[in-house]
Amino acid sequence: MSQSSRYYHIINYGCQMNESDSEHFAGQLQKINYVPTQELPQADVIIINTCCVRESAEKKIYGKIGELKRLKTNRPEIVICIAGCLAQKEGAKLIQKYPHIDLILGTHNITRLTELIQAVQTQHQRQIAIEEDTAVIFDNQVARNNSISAWIPIMYGCNNYCSYCIVPYVRGRERSRPLQEIISEIKQLSQLGYKEVTLLGQNVNSYGKDLPTPIDFADLLTAIDFEAIERIRYMTSHPRDMNEKIIQTIAQGRKICEHFHLPIQAGSDEILQKMNRGYSVQYYKELISMVRQYVPQTSITTDIIVGFPGETDEMFNDTLALVEHIRFDAAYTFLYSPRSGTPAAMLPDQVPLLTKKNRLQQLMDVQNSISLEINKTLVGQTLEVLVEGSSKNDDSKLTGRTRTNKIVIWDNPHPDKINSGQLVNVEINSAQTWLLKGREIESI
Ligand code: SAH
Ligand code: SF4
Ligand code: F3S
Repeated sequence: MSQSSRYYHIINYGCQMNESDSEHFAGQLQKINYVPTQELPQADVIIINTCCVRESAEKKIYGKIGELKRLKTNRPEIVICIAGCLAQKEGAKLIQKYPHIDLILGTHNITRLTELIQAVQTQHQRQIAIEEDTAVIFDNQVARNNSISAWIPIMYGCNNYCSYCIVPYVRGRERSRPLQEIISEIKQLSQLGYKEVTLLGQNVNSYGKDLPTPIDFADLLTAIDFEAIERIRYMTSHPRDMNEKIIQTIAQGRKICEHFHLPIQAGSDEILQKMNRGYSVQYYKELISMVRQYVPQTSITTDIIVGFPGETDEMFNDTLALVEHIRFDAAYTFLYSPRSGTPAAMLPDQVPLLTKKNRLQQLMDVQNSISLEINKTLVGQTLEVLVEGSSKNDDSKLTGRTRTNKIVIWDNPHPDKINSGQLVNVEINSAQTWLLKGREIESI
């Protein structure tokens, strides 16, 4: 690397969609000869890719933005860019509040990153790009963080307007990428040796509704199941838009993994209605029965919010009862966080923080014991695991995932090499809530 290299550093928050967007930022910057650096003070361009789904995420990000002030004072020529959902939501307010920010890049203007950085550098003027654009933002300049597993955005935005959620306001309406474009991206990745793809969208089950050709998510899954990719994953599904055709396609698919992530959000019909989720508890239970009938070996995970406005102890108990009834493999649980501009933030009967925290703890206790019980039933079984690399805490061990998306850790049988990207059989010999341990018995 020459002395004159220019460096970038990206700090990423939020969901997989943001991780994917950050890979596109990296791709654009590398195209104009920037190189990544781990050292923040060395960076000429710093991007914070932001999330605003909950207040806790925003707080962390505001703290991080504040920390960058010193760097800008020391080196005024650096470009500080705030991108992503919080940038889209706050826009000009951020620039007014933080004089050290040079560029606000909203979620609809991702492909304009380098053009706007150059505008800051040459015109010495701060830039804001938050105009909404209905075009699909995908471009081919992507520098991926992982050489085995790839994020593939298949659609952008969300039309659902769940009453608690800020995402539709900051990501815009649903826009699907054309099928052929997705297929050729996955083909390219398979030629590069990628083993796993995860299709991304806020509601992947409604893929294609906005395309001129009649095509749906099941058709997309079928079209890519022929590719030389070992594992196909997707997120996130909306229970209302999951249907028999999709489930059947997954059951028959060769490469589509046996893992359903179906966010239930609450176990009370009254709350589900106030959340504008568009399904009832009964519907959800029947959906899960159908999933288990078609794909008996599947894992099922969910998202749950506790303390939505008006949630009584009784309604919360309905959520606990549902969790016990369904027996999820894992649940991602959140304290309800009012987001200004969303209908739920204006509802009466906001639940006190302490009550929310108590409910969250109770829910986690119930779920954790179920997760452990389910994982213990896997002890003694031999499972196919995709090797991701050496374990973070102990490099004599390997880590990877089962098709059902459970993390497995085991001793590396060949300590001189790490066979990342290989499929191996691991016999499970112990189970924890979020983790399985085992012994590699053979390469596949
Ligand atoms: N499109 C995805 C992801 C949305 S955000 C989906 O619909 O599942 C991920 C999770 O964050 C949601 O499933 C929900 O459980 C949670 N979430 C969203 N808004 C929230 C809020 N205001 N407070 C607490 N949790 C929230
Ligand atoms: Fe938010 Fe609901 Fe859309 Fe998910 S489906 S992003 S929770 S509005
Ligand atoms: Fe956060 Fe935006 Fe994702 S608000 S969860 S980064 S879509």
